[in-house]
Amino acid sequence: MRRIGILTSGGDAPGMNACIRAAVRAALAHDLTIVGIRRGYTGLVGADTIQLDRAAIRNTIHLGGTILETSRNPDFYTRDGRLRAAAAIERMELDGVILIGGEGTFHGASLLIADADTAALVGVPGSIDNDIYGTDYCIGFDTAANCAVDAIDRIRDTARSHERLFFLEVMGREAGFLALESGIAGGAEEMVIPEEETSVTRMSERIREGFAIGKRSAIVVVAEGKTPGISFDLAREIKSHLNLDSRVVVLGHLQRGGPPTLRDRVLGSTLGVAAVEALLDGRSGCMVGEVGGKLAHTPLEETWQRKKPLNEDLRRVFAILSE
Ligand code: F6P
Repeated sequence: MRRIGILTSGGDAPGMNACIRAAVRAALAHDLTIVGIRRGYTGLVGADTIQLDRAAIRNTIHLGGTILETSRNPDFYTRDGRLRAAAAIERMELDGVILIGGEGTFHGASLLIADADTAALVGVPGSIDNDIYGTDYCIGFDTAANCAVDAIDRIRDTARSHERLFFLEVMGREAGFLALESGIAGGAEEMVIPEEETSVTRMSERIREGFAIGKRSAIVVVAEGKTPGISFDLAREIKSHLNLDSRVVVLGHLQRGGPPTLRDRVLGSTLGVAAVEALLDGRSGCMVGEVGGKLAHTPLEETWQRKKPLNEDLRRVFAILSE
């Protein structure tokens, strides 16, 4: 292992820069050369690199987004695209590549390993959705969840003042981690997540009961799922059951930006070092993550083939607290 590359792919997540910085520092400490591959798989196929040295990663730990830029590249789902990537890895003379991303990134990486005799590939979970199997938390989740809680706090002020019902839509395409944790922390009354069927009648009834026992406002946290903006439909449906003044707020990409929280900086830093060490230990085809506070290595196929379940204790807590 002499020369390695690092890229970010899929949706950006706050803390990715902390991870890049940590990987660069760890690599240099082990006398490895490390290059940054720009714009995710698009840059990988095009061998679009920048040299990463101490100067390149200086003053980046507090920055959201990714200094390497990112992309969602469908070419990676074709064999031809992957073979071009393998050829580019050879041209760049890389012995290993660190891929910071989510399910799609790891899916592509495991197909690449199956298709070509290529460099060692090690994944690092970066996704504000927190939906990657093999790690309790993904880089970016904590920052995004804190953004959602901040929004709930602000909405609560105005909801209370006008005695209104609010629908606050957070991200989470396949999973409700953001909605669940921000819902608990923000004291939301109701939650809509992809893991559960939503009964509009039941939800309307519960909101009505809340107002009957003295509540003067209510907040429903909605995971956007596959249909961003879905809260507008939900609000319309609830309106036909409940005669309450309601409003909708869609947080959208606001949640993906901003400086990473302490947790995301520490997680990014820890996993950046762990990824370099995994390569030095001769590992490939795995993702580094943290499970129960301990470093874990999970085969890349498992990270996208297995569904990461929501924490059942947290679901129970939400149900009790939202009564
Ligand atoms: O990165 C995950 C995510 O933020 C999802 O929550 C969301 O559905 C999706 O990305 C949005 O993707 P894009 O930035 O490509 O619109």
